[in-house]
Amino acid sequence: MSTLRCDGLSARLGGREVLRDVTLDLDARTIAVIGDNGSGKSTFARLIAGLATRSAGGLTVLGLDPDRDAADLRRRVALVLSNPDAQIVMPMVADDVGFSLRAERLAKAERAERVARALARFGLADLADRPAHDLSGGQKQLLALCGAFVRDPALVVADEPTASLDARNARRVADHLLADTGHALVLVTHDLALARRCDAAVLFAEGSVSAAGAASGVVDAYERALAC
Ligand SMILES: Nc1ncnc2c1ncn2[C@@H]1O[C@H](COP(=O)(O)OP(=O)(O)OP(=O)(O)O)[C@@H](O)[C@H]1O
Ligand SMILES: [Mg+2]
Repeated sequence: MSTLRCDGLSARLGGREVLRDVTLDLDARTIAVIGDNGSGKSTFARLIAGLATRSAGGLTVLGLDPDRDAADLRRRVALVLSNPDAQIVMPMVADDVGFSLRAERLAKAERAERVARALARFGLADLADRPAHDLSGGQKQLLALCGAFVRDPALVVADEPTASLDARNARRVADHLLADTGHALVLVTHDLALARRCDAAVLFAEGSVSAAGAASGVVDAYERALAC
């Protein structure tokens, strides 16, 4: 089954076509999405996560159609964004992670157990009872990851998840995202070294795909274009 399949996919925003005739078929586990500012990467990420609607064409994500199978896809996909502050929903760290499990209607003890396991995995166990807004930027982004992964998503869509982090935290966050824990990853990034760590990549230019395939070749193509 393809991780991502697009067939003539287009999207309009504010009366403009911001994605045009995107056709792809990628079955890689980790897929980087790269390209200049304004090239359509975030719009593409939002379509995949079911947060935006296409204007034309076909799209399947893990074999699901975001229009037809919206609820199913929402259950299986988690989204991580670049601004850690904007992703905090609850005042306290453990409650914020627990909030991600609200749709699963778990017994209280099971929910607490899932939250504790996730906090430990992301090195946040000692911060469980701290106010979420008091964490450092890097800790907040680990908290956002924790909230995403506590749901055991089949796919994580991350839009510039390391953009606001120092090198150490960026590495830590990237390592968590790329570790093979059974999830697929679509990673929007301007960090080309990070993009190279993915299995596949898609290069956007002005709303269209200008290269797609093995990550190393696609990043090479972008670097050649940058040198012109
Ligand atoms: N809500 C909106 N209404 C109108 N146009 C929009 C809207 N959101 C994005 N756009 C336009 O769509 C195009 C693609 O935007 P998008 O955010 O997908 O780019 P991006 O590749 O993620 O850029 P960046 O690297 O700066 O994050 C841009 O020209 C942008 O101005
Ligand atoms: Mg963007």
